[in-house]
Amino acid sequence: MTPDQLKNFIKDVPDFPKAGIVFKDIAPLLASAKARKAMTAAIVSNYKNQKIDVVVGIESRGFLFGMLLAEALEASFVMLRKSNKLPGDIEKFTYDLEYGTDTIEIQTDAIPNGSHVLLHDDVLATGGTAGAAVQLIEKIGGKVISANFIMELDFLEGRKQLGDLDIYSVLHY
Ligand code: PRP
Ligand code: MG
Repeated sequence: MTPDQLKNFIKDVPDFPKAGIVFKDIAPLLASAKARKAMTAAIVSNYKNQKIDVVVGIESRGFLFGMLLAEALEASFVMLRKSNKLPGDIEKFTYDLEYGTDTIEIQTDAIPNGSHVLLHDDVLATGGTAGAAVQLIEKIGGKVISANFIMELDFLEGRKQLGDLDIYSVLHY
């Protein structure tokens, strides 16, 4: 399946969650076994000759394909979660939003020191979430070698938050 064909599995929902925003709904992509496989393969093909130890998925929509990628790459899977969800020793990172702040968390021992980490989320928008995720993973000793996304909203220039990190997005809007 080409990226254009995969776009048929992303549904535009106008005025959600508020007026003027067009929400990109991945429900049709999740519903189709064929499209899921094609999406996973499109991402995995970038990492064929690279050593990947851990895939980190960002709560919540980053968990879905994050786990499929970990399975395909025979890598470990680690959850990066929103506040107060993870037990045990955790490391936090707080980052700025348009209004207020948000905090993400990870278990301190989740990633062995020096592991090669692939970061995954469904959408790269402003890049605030992914940028914070990279900093948090590196704080606990992981080496982020690439970040990938189902889709990137190019006009928001989120990749600027990720410096010179290798970034791969299957779909661009
Ligand atoms: C959305 C999306 C990304 C993030 C992208 O998650 O799934 O994680 O926003 O935005 P950014 O690049 O501007 O940071 P959201 O927090 O809406 O929650 P969900 O994944 O739990 O649905
Ligand atoms: Mg999300």
